Amino acid sequence: MKQEKIKLLFVCLGNICRSPSAEAVMKKVVKEAGLEDRFEIDSAGTAAYHEGEMADQRMRTHASRRGYQLESISRPVRMDDFDHFDLIIGMDDQNITNLKRLAPDLESQQKIHQMTEFSKVKTIDHVPDPYYGGASGFENVLDILEDACDGLLEQIKESLL
Ligand code: 4NP
Repeated sequence: MKQEKIKLLFVCLGNICRSPSAEAVMKKVVKEAGLEDRFEIDSAGTAAYHEGEMADQRMRTHASRRGYQLESISRPVRMDDFDHFDLIIGMDDQNITNLKRLAPDLESQQKIHQMTEFSKVKTIDHVPDPYYGGASGFENVLDILEDACDGLLEQIKESLL
């Protein structure tokens, strides 16, 4: 019998820095675990300012140094995402507030989580927006995401796989 894929949507504000990185990091984590076929992984933004654009050049440069190719094209969250995805994972409190406002029903609301809920080592309560900062902000995003994506796969293995 064909198993249903676990569908994950990562969400930030612009979908050009944090959530495309989360998408790429999580794809690598599941690939390394040999679970690529079991997942569908995408990302989106709560705002459409950057719709149609590739990920931010600075974010792509920092990510590629760690072996992640950011290939996603920015798109806003759509209403059908709340039905389609199993987990909708925001990067900061503002993302969570906006997602909860958009969610059409209780079942959709319950799919919304914050990335740092899954952190293993890092003690931080959000993934900070790197857009207006320097190089260290982009490195910090990747450090937090690598830790949290490991934790996310562990939790999914315990509960959903
Ligand atoms: P992201 O970063 O939400 O991680 O993609 C940002 C991208 C763009 C803007 C802010 C944050 N902006 O203001 O255009």
